[in-house]
Amino acid sequence: MSKPEGVPYLDLSKEFDALKDEWFAMIIEDGARGSWILGPNLHAFEKEAAEFIGTRHAIGVANGTDALYLSLRALGICPGDEVITTPYTFFATSEVIDMVGARPVFVDIEVDSFNINPVLVEQAVTEKTRAIIPVHLFGNPVDMTAIDAIAQKYDLAVVEDAAQAFGAQHNGQRVGSMGNTGCFSFYPTKVLGCYGDGGLLTTDSDEIAEAVRKLRNHGAATAFQHDEVGMNSRLDEVQAALLRLKLKKLGDNIASRQRIAGLYDERLAKLGITCPARPKNGSHVFNLYTIRSADRDMIRQALMENAIGNSTCYPAPLALQEVYQYLEYNAADFPVSVALGNEVVSLPVFPDMTAQQVDRVCQVIESALL
Ligand SMILES: Cc1ncc(COP(=O)(O)O)c(C=O)c1O
Repeated sequence: MSKPEGVPYLDLSKEFDALKDEWFAMIIEDGARGSWILGPNLHAFEKEAAEFIGTRHAIGVANGTDALYLSLRALGICPGDEVITTPYTFFATSEVIDMVGARPVFVDIEVDSFNINPVLVEQAVTEKTRAIIPVHLFGNPVDMTAIDAIAQKYDLAVVEDAAQAFGAQHNGQRVGSMGNTGCFSFYPTKVLGCYGDGGLLTTDSDEIAEAVRKLRNHGAATAFQHDEVGMNSRLDEVQAALLRLKLKKLGDNIASRQRIAGLYDERLAKLGITCPARPKNGSHVFNLYTIRSADRDMIRQALMENAIGNSTCYPAPLALQEVYQYLEYNAADFPVSVALGNEVVSLPVFPDMTAQQVDRVCQVIESALL
C-alpha cells in the first residue's frame, strides 16, 4: 500500500485559479490606463478596507513592516522614547522601534492567548514610555479594552500590530480600529494576503493619515515638493486590484479557517493537547492554528516524516536574540515565552484545506502520541 499523501502548510493554488481571470482583467485595464502607482484600484481598495475595518482612513503601503514604522514616525516616536511590546512575535514588530531610534521594552505574554500581558505592560511604564505595540498574534485579538485603559491612564499611543489578524474582532470592533493606528501585512501567508508584498495602515486621525500619506511618498504631498524625509512605501495597483477581489471573499475565507480550527479542536483536545484559546469577547481568525504540548518534538518528528507542513512560531523570545543583547534581558524575564518556544507547533490551515487533509494531520498526531 502506498503511503498517504502529505499535507502542505499552505496551498493557495485553488484560490489563485479561482481569482486569476478577474484579476488579470483588472491588470489589463491598469495597463490600458497606464496607471500602476497611486491609481484607481489603490484608492478604491483604501476606501473599501477603511469601511471594512471601521476607520476613517486606510492607507496602502509597501508591507506590514512599513505600516508599523510609518505609525511610529507619524506619532513622533524618537530617540530617548520607550515603546512597550511583546517578545513573542515576528521580528518586524520590535525592529521598527529601533528603526526610529527608540528603545524596545519587552514584557511577557499571557499563557492562554499568547498575547501581551496587560498587567506586565502597566508595570513596565516609565516616564520615557510613549507607546505600546500589542500584536494580535496568530489571528487572536488582544484584549484591547485593557490595553486602551493603560494607554489612557498614562497618555500613551497604541499601534496595533494586526499583521496576522485582518478581520478579527474584539467587543464587536475590528482589530486595527482600536489603537491610534492599525498595521496590516498582506504577505501571501496572511489571512488577507496578496501575491507579493503589501501592507495597510488604518487610523481615525486625520492628522496621522495626512502625515502617513506624505511619508509613504518621499515626504511629498505635491509632486517634487518635499516637506520632510520620507520613503517610497506605496501599495501598487496590481496588488491593490487583487486585494479588492480577496476582500469581497474574506468572510468565507475566515469561516473556513474557523471551521478547520473546530475540526482540529475536536480531535486534538482528546489527546491532552492544548488547542488555541478563543477570545472572551471576540473572534479569532486563525491565521495560524498553533497547539501546545510537552510532546511537541515527538509530534513535529511525526509530521515531518509524513510530509505534513508545520512551523514553530516562535522558537525563542525576540528579547533574547543576539540583536537585543544591548538590552540585557535574560530568560527569567520571559518565562511564558520561553516555555512556549519549546512546546508550540503550528499546523496547516488555509481556506481550501479539505476535511480529509485535517483528518490526515490528526491521524499522524494521534499515532505519534498513542
Ligand atoms: C506580527 C507581524 N508583524 C509584522 C509583520 C511584517 O509584515 P511584512 O512582512 O508585510 O513586512 C509580520 C509579517 O510577516 C507579522 O507577522
